[in-house]
Order: sequence, then C-alpha cells, then structure tokens
Amino acid sequence: MKGIVLAGGKATRLKPLSKITSKQLLPVYNKPMIFYPLETLLKGGIKDILIIMAPEYSGHFLNLLGSGKEFGARFTYEIQEEPRGLADAFIIGENFIGDDNVCLILGDNIFDYDFSPFIQNFSSGAVTFVKQVHDPERSGVVEFDKDMKVISIEEKPANPKSNYASVGFYIYDHRVIEIAKNLKPSGRGELEINGTPSINNTFLEMGELKVSIIEGLWEDAGTFNSLLRANIYWAKKNGFTV
Ligand code: G1P
Repeated sequence: MKGIVLAGGKATRLKPLSKITSKQLLPVYNKPMIFYPLETLLKGGIKDILIIMAPEYSGHFLNLLGSGKEFGARFTYEIQEEPRGLADAFIIGENFIGDDNVCLILGDNIFDYDFSPFIQNFSSGAVTFVKQVHDPERSGVVEFDKDMKVISIEEKPANPKSNYASVGFYIYDHRVIEIAKNLKPSGRGELEINGTPSINNTFLEMGELKVSIIEGLWEDAGTFNSLLRANIYWAKKNGFTV
C-alpha cells in the first residue's frame, strides 16, 4: 500500500494566512498541519508517501519534511501546477502508484482515528469513509442502506440525501489511475472523487465501492473556524485547558 497526501490548492478561504505559506503548513497546536495526515498514514503502516504540492511554497515542504528518514518513511514530491480537482492526484501519482494499492489523504484533513485495519485488510476495489455531520451540504454526501450498501454519492448537494459526509481519506486499487485519466470534469470544472462524474461513482457503478463509518475527530481544517476547532482539540488532548 502506498500513500498520497494531496496538499495543493490555493486556500483562498484562509487568506491572508495562506499568503504566509501553504495552508497545509500552518500550525495546528504544536505541529504544522501536514504532520497530522502524514501521521495518519504512518500509523496505518504506510511508509512510501507521495506529497503533492502547489508550486508557490514547494520549497517550504522540502525544508520541513526532507527525505522522510526522520519519520521512518520515504517521501516523494510532485507539483500540481493548477488545482484541477482531487482525482488529479492519481494522474500526477501514476508512476508513483504503479501496480500497487493506494491511500489518498487530503492535506488539510485531520483525524484522530486508526485506519490500519482497513489498510491491512484491503484487497481490491474502493473504500470510502464517512462521518455523521450537521452540515452535510458542505461535503461529499454518501447515501447507504442498513446493510452499508452505497446508494448514491453527491458533491455538496443543496438537498443532502443523508447526514454522512465523505471524509478526506480513500483507499483504491491501481485501477484508480485509469479511472482518473478517463474522467471528464464535473459541472464545477473539477476532476472529482465524489460528484458526477467521479472516481467513487465509477467504483459504485462497478459494484466495488465499500463505505465505512469512522469514529473520533475529523476536521477539514480549510476554514478559520475548522482550523481553530482542530487547534483546540489537540491542545485539550495534550492536557491544555482552553
Ligand atoms: C473535498 C471533496 C468532498 C469531501 C471533502 C472532505 O471538498 O470535494 O467531497 O467531502 O473534501 O474534506 P473540499 O474540502 O475540497 O471543498
């Protein structure tokens, strides 16, 4: 299993903070944000990790993270020139993935959850993870039945069919590369993981998409409020009374 951290984008929602450095390098309590997704992959036993960055602050990533040796891992770097959508990670990562399976984690997604059983037990197809939220219209939304069979996936729908948000952690076999290369941009002009068309909807049509509900913290730290919430969570977890 290989890992990709997608840390591209322009982070317009975090301006002017994102004019200092990349969003994924901003502090979350006592560490740069990207340490959290990296540690989520490392905890799952993934040691071969591709970091995809926007060009603007790519030097900051290299200075901070280096070869990966300090993390007991091997880091590879690629630049995403333009934010073309999440599925672009598998096109950029084609050579890195090769014939292996791959986990994608979004560089601004912060979890306190152990994905290792899913990483270790994965054989083929796709696994997408969800968490119940109060504001599903802000995320990809997954609808499924009582047997955990996925019925639909929609990207930020105005009228969500469930309260389960698609979190930024996905596991695929290597066919994801060809699926990504054949995707057409969605209505909002992106190569999507959720949405129509998308990677997850393609695996759903193939009957090979599984869904699993996660526990513990999930924060998409891409806005001022969610960034603050993530800071407070880890401050408290480290014993600081906020
Ligand atoms: C992206 C995806 C969305 C997913 C979310 C998880 O949204 O498009 O489906 O639920 O990540 O963080 P973004 O946060 O990039 O708007």
